[in-house]
Amino acid sequence: MQQSIMSTLPLLLLLLFSSLFPAPSHAWGIHGHLIVCQIAQGRLSDAAAAAVRGLLPSYAGGNLSSLCSWADGVKLRYPWSAPLHYIDTPDHLCSYTYDRDCKDEDSFRGRCVAGAINNYTSQLLTYDATSPSTQYNLTQALLFLAHFVGDIHQPLHVGFTSDKGGNTIDVHWYTRKTVLHHVWDDNIIKTAENDYYGEGVAEFVDALMQNITGEWSQRVPGWEECSKNQTTCPDTYASESIAAACDWAYKDVTEDSLLEDAYFGSRLPVVNLRLAQGGVRLAATLNRIFS
Ligand SMILES: *[C@@H]1O[C@H](CO)[C@@H](O)[C@H](O)[C@H]1NC(C)=O
Ligand SMILES: *[C@@H]1O[C@H](CO)[C@@H](O)[C@H](O)[C@H]1NC(C)=O
Ligand SMILES: *[C@@H]1O[C@H](CO)[C@@H](O)[C@H](O)[C@H]1NC(C)=O
Ligand SMILES: *[C@@H]1O[C@H](CO)[C@@H](O)[C@H](O)[C@H]1NC(C)=O
Ligand SMILES: *[C@@H]1O[C@H](CO)[C@@H](O)[C@H](O)[C@H]1NC(C)=O
Ligand SMILES: [Zn+2]
Repeated sequence: MQQSIMSTLPLLLLLLFSSLFPAPSHAWGIHGHLIVCQIAQGRLSDAAAAAVRGLLPSYAGGNLSSLCSWADGVKLRYPWSAPLHYIDTPDHLCSYTYDRDCKDEDSFRGRCVAGAINNYTSQLLTYDATSPSTQYNLTQALLFLAHFVGDIHQPLHVGFTSDKGGNTIDVHWYTRKTVLHHVWDDNIIKTAENDYYGEGVAEFVDALMQNITGEWSQRVPGWEECSKNQTTCPDTYASESIAAACDWAYKDVTEDSLLEDAYFGSRLPVVNLRLAQGGVRLAATLNRIFS
């Protein structure tokens, strides 16, 4: 007994510490990624579902959603991957171009979430069901791709440079102090779950999937499509995100703004749409890769 308490103590302290001092994040929260991957999983072709099952570690039981936040967990182990979760665009310009913006803080070109989506898509295109890749770890390629297609749909993952996508803008979400970036990663989603979906992520996913096959069904083929027969088109997703960041996320927000019902009610439809588009496009991309 004594021993097992001692051995869990460091873990408990770590959990306590990390809940007191949450690390600054650059990611949809766990639920955002879960939602995107669950929507995608239900739309995979037989070939893509088989490839995904073959690439996932066996403990995942073929369930992609269970590993959609894996990329956030390896930022310390793979420091090179940290800049691959987002794009910094010039302040107040509200536009994105790959050549100008897709780089890391040291100006290494292609090191942003759009470059990473292209990178892992081309790695996965080498997949051969009959022999494991000797060149790439395609399990990691799949987990990075599934995560980054989610990230690039979070409007503030394609935000302004000086405020780090809203990470340096302090706000109040109802009674809690947080930062604008986190409101879009987590708070809007969690509040929607509490208010409308009996706190359940599964019901939220169901509601989104109903609109994908109902309300939005005419628009879905347009979401799936990429011009010029590209396998994936992250530049389109990024341009939409910075537009939504300016039109909705940053709009009327200043340091210490109090964000409550009016902000929540007007922004939730944008979050709903971006989660749905992320899921639909992740499936479309995987279906093209493994066709
Ligand atoms: C897949 O994993 C997610 C996250 O762990 C879980 O919520 C979901 O129920 C799982 N789905 C299946 C079909 O096991
Ligand atoms: C591409 O993937 C490789 C292997 O994971 C990685 O080392 C490299 O940093 C990636 N580059 C980009 C831009 O994603
Ligand atoms: C590929 O990456 C996964 C996840 O990090 C790891 O478990 C696995 O051992 C790696 N495979 C190879 C062949 O290195
Ligand atoms: C689904 O569409 C209806 C009708 O536009 C809308 O009221 C509802 O909020 C949408 N739900 C989600 C989860 O997007
Ligand atoms: C796109 O791909 C289809 C099928 O492979 C082909 O028939 C068509 O000509 C291609 N279109 C362009 C613009 O490359
Ligand atoms: Zn991320």
